[in-house]
Amino acid sequence: MRIAIVYDSVFGNTAVIAEAIARSARELGEVTLLQARDAAGFDPAAFDLLVVGSPTRGFAPTPVISEFTGGLPKAALAAAAFDTRLDPDHIQPVPLRWVIQVGGYAADRIVGTLHEKGYRVLAPNGDFLVHGTEGPLKPGEIERAEVWLKQIAGGVSTG
Ligand SMILES: Cc1cc2nc3c(=O)[nH]c(=O)nc-3n(C[C@H](O)[C@H](O)[C@H](O)COP(=O)(O)O)c2cc1C
Repeated sequence: MRIAIVYDSVFGNTAVIAEAIARSARELGEVTLLQARDAAGFDPAAFDLLVVGSPTRGFAPTPVISEFTGGLPKAALAAAAFDTRLDPDHIQPVPLRWVIQVGGYAADRIVGTLHEKGYRVLAPNGDFLVHGTEGPLKPGEIERAEVWLKQIAGGVSTG
């Protein structure tokens, strides 16, 4: 299986998750790990699975990721999205937790764009938690990311 992982990261937490996903993916096939800013000319036709990841910022992906997904050609390729986001249990004051959850997350927006372009989106979205704006990742999230990739990749072969 040929797997492309394209991500953005401001403080490095999403990069750590993308690297964990790549490590897990390498057990299944050939992996291309790209920062979205280096993904100009990216050709999805060369892959069996596209994974896109972003930090959630203002309920949305970063502009670099939005530009990347917006610029993708239409394709019937299998795809999945993940994001990093604040752990709701660590958000204060408590009513702000509700606002942030209702606002939505980067992966929801990425998946929306992928759907519009005909990609076969595999569920669930990856949702990896940080304990503060700049991190660190919640303990166990790296392992959860490795498992998530295998779960998603299972959907590629079974159709
Ligand atoms: C300007 C800004 C907006 C943010 N908006 C959200 C948000 O809407 N929801 C959320 O859960 N976390 C939000 N966060 C926290 C980010 O998700 C967190 O910084 C990110 O997961 C860290 O990933 P990175 O290290 O790859 O940049 C925001 C952080 C910043 C700096």
